[in-house]
Amino acid sequence: MRRIAVMTSGGDAPGMNAAIRAVVRYAISQGMEVYGVERGYDGLIKGNIKKMDSRSVSDTIHRGGTMLKTARCPEFNTKDGRELAYDVLKAYCIEGLIVIGGDGSFRGVKDLYDDFKFPCVGIPGTIDNDLGYTDYTLGFDTAVNNVLDAINKIRDTMNSHDRACIIEVMGRHCGDIALHSGISGGAEAMLVPEIPFDITALCNSMKRNIIKGKVSDIIILAEGVCDASDLKKQIEQRVPISIRTVKLGYIQRGGTPTMADRLLAARCAVRAVELLKTDCDARAVGIKDNKIIDISLDEALNTHREFDKDLYRIATLLSQ
Ligand code: ADP
Ligand code: F6P
Repeated sequence: MRRIAVMTSGGDAPGMNAAIRAVVRYAISQGMEVYGVERGYDGLIKGNIKKMDSRSVSDTIHRGGTMLKTARCPEFNTKDGRELAYDVLKAYCIEGLIVIGGDGSFRGVKDLYDDFKFPCVGIPGTIDNDLGYTDYTLGFDTAVNNVLDAINKIRDTMNSHDRACIIEVMGRHCGDIALHSGISGGAEAMLVPEIPFDITALCNSMKRNIIKGKVSDIIILAEGVCDASDLKKQIEQRVPISIRTVKLGYIQRGGTPTMADRLLAARCAVRAVELLKTDCDARAVGIKDNKIIDISLDEALNTHREFDKDLYRIATLLSQ
């Protein structure tokens, strides 16, 4: 394969730029030409494509977001939309596509393969860490470190005022951001979608903490579990404590990627280019036990994500 394209799709994630850079530079080193598609599947349908060279990815490795921009594109969910995208790829004589994104983006590129047998590789890029076949997705480590930074700062104020704080974090249906930031930030409680949440147990634990002299609990709440203000009201009715709520929002998704995300980006990108070089079908690249793996996109999308219940148990014990 001589000519490939790369794009980002779905929510942006720190490390996407490092992956684009590595795709471009590694592919060029292998004698290939690389085209960048702007604004995800929407840009693909509209033909927003540009040739990339080694210099076009200079000064990007340390930047969050995505230099190719990203978008959500309902039109790509239809066969007609995908046909338009396929026509654009053909018009540019592009023979393979690398998509950096989450499960929605993977579904999109798998559909493209199913419709037209167009070779493609997915690189997992989402802060949510919600793809079951890979231990980590690009952006997750940075997002968790962003949350940690916020926890540290919020704790200073909560300690000074003897207040508790409910910090709402992202993750869609996956509690990994909450669990990992909670355990490493020393949070007193983590509420995640995977584990049913018991208000009485939470309030009892906060009351015990007050007896022990701990009055500035940090509660990490994964988005979607419940409404932060409702939770605050429920706790205030049962526990004699002053509570604030903080929704971290996009603060989690931006910023310079960590070493772990940059390294993962480089390793996944190299495997993705290698796969296209050998005219693969539809593959997903990821990391398992610190080894880069590739599996069929179909299998990747059908691998159920296991929540780390043991880590959750440890987190609960350490927060007493
Ligand atoms: P993410 O990739 O971060 O999970 P989304 O779920 O928003 O983000 O998906 C990104 C894009 O992927 C969607 O806007 C759409 O263009 C495409 N997509 C998602 N699901 C499908 C699907 N089932 N079939 C075809 N394309 C899809
Ligand atoms: O998938 C990444 C993510 O940040 C989720 O954690 C969150 O639920 C969602 O995207 C928010 O999406 P939007 O970009 O539409 O605000």
